[in-house]
Amino acid sequence: MNENLIEGFEGTRKAGLIASATLDEVSSIIKPGITTKEIDNLCYEFINDHKGYSAPLFYRGYPKSCCTSANHIVCHGIPGDKILNEGDILNVDVTAYKNEWHGDTSRMFYVGDVSVKAKKLVEVTYNSLMKAIEILNKNIYLGDIGDTIQTYVEQEGFSVVKDFCGHGIGKRFHEEPNILHYGEKGTGQKLKEGMIFTIEPMINEGDYQTKVLKDGWTAVTKDKKLSAQFEHTVGITNDGCEIFTSSKKGLNFPPYKK
Ligand code: MF3
Ligand code: CO
Ligand code: CO
Repeated sequence: MNENLIEGFEGTRKAGLIASATLDEVSSIIKPGITTKEIDNLCYEFINDHKGYSAPLFYRGYPKSCCTSANHIVCHGIPGDKILNEGDILNVDVTAYKNEWHGDTSRMFYVGDVSVKAKKLVEVTYNSLMKAIEILNKNIYLGDIGDTIQTYVEQEGFSVVKDFCGHGIGKRFHEEPNILHYGEKGTGQKLKEGMIFTIEPMINEGDYQTKVLKDGWTAVTKDKKLSAQFEHTVGITNDGCEIFTSSKKGLNFPPYKK
C-alpha cells in the first residue's frame, strides 16, 4: 500500500478503536429503566475523554452524539427521555472523529430478557454482516456484498432495508461509494486495496419498507415490526480486509457478559 493508504488505515484504526471502546462502555450501563439520553451522555463524554469528537453531533443538524434505535426504529433514533424497558432490543450507533479520520460502528443490545424472535432477528443481522466481511478482498464486486447479505437474510425469512446503506468513510463521515445491503453478484464497482467503508445492514422482521418520522431523522418500519442493525468500518487489504471496529473486549455480539 502507498503512504496515503497506510495513513488512512492508521488513522481509521485509532478512530475505530475509540468507537468500539465506546460501545464496550455502553454495554455496561444498558438495563431496564435507563434513558437513551444517558447512553448519549456516556458516548459524548467517553469520546471527548479520548480526545476525539462525536461525528454525529451537529452533522447535518443532528442534535446528539449517537443514534439510539429501539425495536421498530430502523436507524437514526434520537436519544432523549425515552426509558428502556425489559424486552427491548436497541441499536447504539457511534462514530468517533479522531485526528481527521472517522470510525463508525453500531451494535445491538438486549434490555433484560428479550423474546426468542427478537434474538433470532439480532443473530441473523449480525451473521449477515460477518458473512459479508468474510468475503471481502480486492477481487470482489460491491454487488457481492449485497448479494451475500440479501441471500442469507431472505433465506432466514427476514427482509433487507433498501432506504439506507453503508458508505465510504475517511476524512469525511460519508463518502462514495454507497454500500448496498442487497444486490447481484458480480455487479457494481470492483473493490480496491486501501478502500475504507462501512457495512451496516438493517434487517427487518417483517416488510423491508421504512418511513421517517416528523423529527426528520427517526426511521421506522412501516409495519411497526422489529428491525436490527450492526455496523463495522472495514478496509480492503492486499489479501482480505481489516475490521477497524472490533471490540477489544470481545463484546461484539449480545448477550454481553459482565
Ligand atoms: N452513524 C450513522 C451511519 O452509520 C450515521 C448517523 S448520521 C446522524 O452512517 F446524523 F444521524 F448521526
Ligand atoms: Co455508517
Ligand atoms: Co453508524
